[in-house]
Amino acid sequence: FIGRLARFGSAVSVAALLAAAPASATNFKIAVGDGAGGTQEALGKAFVEALEANTGGAHTATLFPNSQLGSEQDTVNDAAMGLLDFSIVAINNITPFSPSVGVLTLPYMMLSLEDAEALTQGEVGQELVENTIRDAGVRIIGWAYSGFRVLTNSKKPVTTVADLQDLVIRVPKNEIMIATYKAWGVNPTPMAWSETFAALQTKVVDGQDNPYITVYSMKFDEVQSHVTNLRYLFSIEPLIVSEAVFQGLSEDEQKAVLDAGRAATDFSARFLREQEEQIKSVLAERGMQISDPADGEQEFIDLATTAVWPQFYETIGGIEKLNTALAAIGRDPV
Ligand code: MLT
Repeated sequence: FIGRLARFGSAVSVAALLAAAPASATNFKIAVGDGAGGTQEALGKAFVEALEANTGGAHTATLFPNSQLGSEQDTVNDAAMGLLDFSIVAINNITPFSPSVGVLTLPYMMLSLEDAEALTQGEVGQELVENTIRDAGVRIIGWAYSGFRVLTNSKKPVTTVADLQDLVIRVPKNEIMIATYKAWGVNPTPMAWSETFAALQTKVVDGQDNPYITVYSMKFDEVQSHVTNLRYLFSIEPLIVSEAVFQGLSEDEQKAVLDAGRAATDFSARFLREQEEQIKSVLAERGMQISDPADGEQEFIDLATTAVWPQFYETIGGIEKLNTALAAIGRDPV
């Protein structure tokens, strides 16, 4: 997988080297891309609590939020090389290293939290976990469910594809998301997550998309005024452990880590169900203007699915992988 890492990743960050812990450490380091109060932090805190409980306090972990240990894609590299223990990153920042995971970033693939739970916790998810160990050198041990990525911008209400045309939109360095915006007629600006707030603030870009809870935890309401309730991507954010670090643990320690990951995943679904509406209201009270896409989003859906899905059949491992995933959530095959 090193070739793929070299292609997509940048050099190992000095911060991660300094923070790296040996496999026997009792205080693991967990990189967290988002700020405090988000779904990533909630997953991380639940994991630490369960890990401590499962090991009788022998093992704990410290969260480093706000991309302190590097951009999300860099932390995947660092964990792959055994220089970082754990990281919590959006799925779209794993796809470049493990292309089959792209089945979960196809636009309008997951239409609800229930779809996301069924896919990540069923056989599809299990296969993606194995592929990611093989392709990216990291093991997914838990999933944060973060909600649909809504579109924010600093200029105007957006309800149609036409409204998007004069906006500069930041996207992650993710081929499927870039292709989605291109299908909507926009040439988006790929940019690391850790640089996004500054780019919005200095108006290098006009907008971006991420879930409500992420917008809140990143304080994007300070630099963005409009929200469009797009539902093209239900955001899931894996907790990954370096496979090298994991293999250095005893069988009992591995079990404690895996069980803590499952407990944290359960907590994450509850957290989203309890928090999302409330956080949306807080953002509205702070002045963000919220719009729904026109015509039930049909134009966005039609352009994105017909143009984008076929471009990635091969990348995700063949059309049958997509059809297996669709069947798992009760949808018709393509
Ligand atoms: C991104 O847009 O790069 C990520 O989805 C951000 C995140 O992890 O919240």
